[in-house]
Amino acid sequence: MSDPRTAAVYPGSFDPIHLGHVDIIHRALTIFPKVIVAVLENPEKRALLEMPVRVKLIRESLAGLAGVEVASFSGLLVDFLRSSGARVVLRGMRAVSDFEFEFQLSLFNRRLWADAETVFLTPNEEFVYLSSRVIREIWAFGGDVSSFVPAPVYAELTRRRSVASHRA
Ligand code: PNS
Repeated sequence: MSDPRTAAVYPGSFDPIHLGHVDIIHRALTIFPKVIVAVLENPEKRALLEMPVRVKLIRESLAGLAGVEVASFSGLLVDFLRSSGARVVLRGMRAVSDFEFEFQLSLFNRRLWADAETVFLTPNEEFVYLSSRVIREIWAFGGDVSSFVPAPVYAELTRRRSVASHRA
């Protein structure tokens, strides 16, 4: 069994990464010496940002933060866990509404691999309402998302908006 103190894997779609995610990563680094941000490539879900862009923006958003790795994966999370020598899954828990899905995910993962353990962290209250889905929606309707996302994400979204407006 891998040393549970070695690394926590923080899986998600990160489409895009937002300040709540960054807050969870900072908190996790006070507990785990290494956090692997694992970005799910999910062909069934239409993404706003392409996988390489998501990975690049996460790296840029976390630049200078020691102990962080960023990787992409497809398939089962437990397979990614095993291949990275980790057994801890890190997830953010914002509110009761997150609980049912997170509870199911954690039990499924442990059923698929008995060594898998999930650790939940809660973000700072100011980020509790943030979600990538809502940020995508605000952005799609022309709203300002600058206070919800790290600067590199905002710069990329703004660049895309200006490219789109020049094409129109
Ligand atoms: O950011 P998200 O979309 O809430 O993240 C969900 C994620 C990536 C953690 C979850 O969908 C996942 O682990 N998918 C990988 C496939 C898998 O292992 N499924 C079985 C457990 S339900």
